[in-house]
Amino acid sequence: MQKEDGKQEPQKNCDIGFIGLGVMGANLTLNLADNGYRVACFDLDQSKVDAILAKEEAERPEGSGPRVEGCSSYTELLSKLKAPHLIILSVPAGEPVDHVCNHLIDAGVRADDIVIDTGNSLWTDSVKREEQYKSKFIFFTTAVSGGEVGARFGPSLMPSGNPYAWTRIEPVLKAISAKVDPQTGKPIESRTPGKPVTEGEPCATYIGTMGAGHYVKMVHNGIEYADMQLICEAYQIMRTSFHMAPAEIAEVFRRWNDGKLNSYLMEISAEVLEQLDPETGEPLVDVILDQAGQKGTGLWTAVSALQVGSPAQTITSAVFARSISGLKKERVKASKVLQGPQAAVLSEEDKMAAVNKLEQALYCSKICAYAQGFQLMATAAKEHDWELDFGEIAKIWRAGCIIRAVFLQSIAQAYENDEDLDNLLLDPFFADQITEMQGDWRESIAQATLAGVPCPGMMSALSYYDSYRSAVLPANLLQGQRDYFGAHTYQRIDKPASKKYHLDWSDPARPQINIKK
Ligand code: 6PG
Repeated sequence: MQKEDGKQEPQKNCDIGFIGLGVMGANLTLNLADNGYRVACFDLDQSKVDAILAKEEAERPEGSGPRVEGCSSYTELLSKLKAPHLIILSVPAGEPVDHVCNHLIDAGVRADDIVIDTGNSLWTDSVKREEQYKSKFIFFTTAVSGGEVGARFGPSLMPSGNPYAWTRIEPVLKAISAKVDPQTGKPIESRTPGKPVTEGEPCATYIGTMGAGHYVKMVHNGIEYADMQLICEAYQIMRTSFHMAPAEIAEVFRRWNDGKLNSYLMEISAEVLEQLDPETGEPLVDVILDQAGQKGTGLWTAVSALQVGSPAQTITSAVFARSISGLKKERVKASKVLQGPQAAVLSEEDKMAAVNKLEQALYCSKICAYAQGFQLMATAAKEHDWELDFGEIAKIWRAGCIIRAVFLQSIAQAYENDEDLDNLLLDPFFADQITEMQGDWRESIAQATLAGVPCPGMMSALSYYDSYRSAVLPANLLQGQRDYFGAHTYQRIDKPASKKYHLDWSDPARPQINIKK
């Protein structure tokens, strides 16, 4: 169409506008294109727009025309979209999201346009944004897990917000998400550009009203921290206590990955351990500095668990494990001052037996970490009035995301059998497994402790299990202490919980056990 000034009017032929073409954004754009959507894309950095156009051309299926159009402004992007507009953002969490939203307002987004934030945003920010932008456009979120490969070939998606918007977006998100074979619970994967997986169950489900999706993604990341830490502890126990080389440990991880511990994180851990440093030829893991980075989602999970009072000690200890790893200089100094035991050298037979026990220890600890994550989501859901479907959440984590694992099928089954399950540990399948394996779990931790090898994740998981199964905890003494020094009162086991008691601890006439001092 010709405009009055003689310039060509852009055709409104794009289905989706995409803003933010970093690694995740570029790959999501190509994923959308593979699934038949025509995408108009924009990035403040024009070289990223050029790069995606070149990549799309290189990966374009034979006989197809261009599926992605580059734009040099927000206005141009809007001018290419079919109305009502659907715009997806992949920009860093925090201020950049508002920056883009405000530019879209200036460019003329309308009240029935949908803007979807796919970043790792803090869930409370998403709640604020929905309110803040509601007169301008529909602010929607979908949390994305799966890293760059997931974004390209099928991530796990956790959408939340306005239910009407979800009905419009659902086909798009389901198309680009990872897919699972419903019988086996295993991912159906394609890594071929232009050939997306179109069969199987999509790993995208509506999580709930605004905030719920990003909360669930946050907990996913908390579990991810715990899962990674537990694998690292198993590695360190084998390395330090069993004196095994990285390649030997990689072999063990590969074996474990064929069984109940099958997961993406287990698989990549084996690969990392097998990698040699191109510079020195040594195992790469020995060259990588032992100081863990973090972007904050694990910390947010830990903070939230503390705030709502949901025990999540394995997740929290995974965050602290990263903190203590950061104290490298101090640790090096302390290693020369603070004494610990020397790990005994094991016979080959004892080593193999210990490795087998460690597999059970890792599995039991992992169950506890997931139990804590699901318990936290249940507590938060009550507090924020979200109707979370835990069976569905476990299902969409079976493929695409970083914590994808075979045992998520059993978690989904547990919530399908009992949607009001108080705790995963109470599911008969998991309860039986821990009953059977706990001897090995306890022995592995005891052995690690005697060898002086830290295993905060595994220990905290076992403490969680033992605390959760204790009908009586020493909080009775603790309440006595609080009442003693602060008159904080206590309840009694033989009286209604609504009644509070206080003892005058300074009264010499109070009844006391007569102990000769
Ligand atoms: C995912 C990942 C992803 C990212 C983490 C990394 O689900 O795809 O969790 O979101 O890799 O945020 O987190 P840290 O840098 O904090 O380890």
